[in-house]
Amino acid sequence: MAKNWKTKLIHSDAKIPKGFRSLSVGVQRGSTVLFPDAASVKDDWDQYEVGYTYGLYGTPTTLELAARICELEGGFRTLITPGGQCAISLINLALLKAGDHVLIPESVYTPNRKFAAQVLRRFGVEVGFYAPEGGAGIQTLFRENTRMVWCESPGSITMEVQDVPAIAEVAHRAGAMVVMDNTWSAGVYFDAFAHGVDVTMQAITKYVGGHSDLLLGSITTREETAWRRLGATQQLVGCAASPDDCSLALRGLKTLAVRLKAIEDATLTLARWLSERPEIERVLHPALPSCPGHEFWKRDFRGSTGVFSIVFQPRFSKAQVQGFVDKLELFEIGYSWAGVTSLAVAYDFHATRGRPEYGHRIVRLNIGLEDVDDLKADLRVALDSLG
Ligand SMILES: Cc1ncc(COP(=O)(O)O)c(C=O)c1O
Repeated sequence: MAKNWKTKLIHSDAKIPKGFRSLSVGVQRGSTVLFPDAASVKDDWDQYEVGYTYGLYGTPTTLELAARICELEGGFRTLITPGGQCAISLINLALLKAGDHVLIPESVYTPNRKFAAQVLRRFGVEVGFYAPEGGAGIQTLFRENTRMVWCESPGSITMEVQDVPAIAEVAHRAGAMVVMDNTWSAGVYFDAFAHGVDVTMQAITKYVGGHSDLLLGSITTREETAWRRLGATQQLVGCAASPDDCSLALRGLKTLAVRLKAIEDATLTLARWLSERPEIERVLHPALPSCPGHEFWKRDFRGSTGVFSIVFQPRFSKAQVQGFVDKLELFEIGYSWAGVTSLAVAYDFHATRGRPEYGHRIVRLNIGLEDVDDLKADLRVALDSLG
């Protein structure tokens, strides 16, 4: 049929060569997905079962990232979310209901804690917090209605490594599922499913993305039932990840191994050096015996990554600890981590949560890809300035 140029803008007959093959996964954006005929139209989120139906449930770019994460974690299937915190809230919304009881470690990522305290409680879920280093001792906190136990190992900022298999055994005996924030290990240094976890999430924002320029999350399940509940809930919550961001994460995956190796080596060098400095009371790095739960890291992990914390000696005031951070030149100040730039953030646990003994003396470091001797020199100058 002859077409007006305005129609051609939308229904074009232009031709290009076929058969392009490259080393990158194409970015496929799209809300509308086309059906071959009227009878084929369906609104079903499970595109593995029924084929592509709507961009909300993932384009081939999104599903490629999901499949790659799933392959690395060894799960049944993976969902991609617009950020790590979205993965956390979606897990809670999909797998808990009013009247259930959930247990969350004191050391959990703060927005995870706040979602439980401020949203789950509002919807009638009972929320309890437990000491992360308690292992099987968590048993005493179980109730008739305990349905879920969160783990995060190591914990955010305070870095406690958990005895996940012991917690999982207690949880499974009580009929509760175990959910883990596996972001620190990048999903590769801790095999969560082999250690009894049922559902994992990661902030893909961190090591998989690797360059501080995207926000994504993943949820991976060990089996199909949880995946179905999560997929159906994702449809109704309507949280879709951007295929552009997914393509950046797919690119990040290609260099994940070399980035992790360089970061691990530099981080261990700096953590050990810091543990010898007189200004530092304690280095909270899972691979060092000074970290709570170090023995579980040694038993269960294949490696370590680039985030750890240092605790200053009690003689240092809050202003001095902040002064140390301000004095650093290569370490930038900012949230999030696992990119190529080293970061430092000072926390004050008097005001916020468990571990009051660290008070204002705790600083979290993220080690990036700068030269390790330059980073050491930067830390040395800032420490020396404390007097
Ligand atoms: C351990 C952990 N989990 C989850 C998140 C949330 O990830 P996002 O920033 O992608 O929402 C973060 C972010 O800092 C984190 O540190």
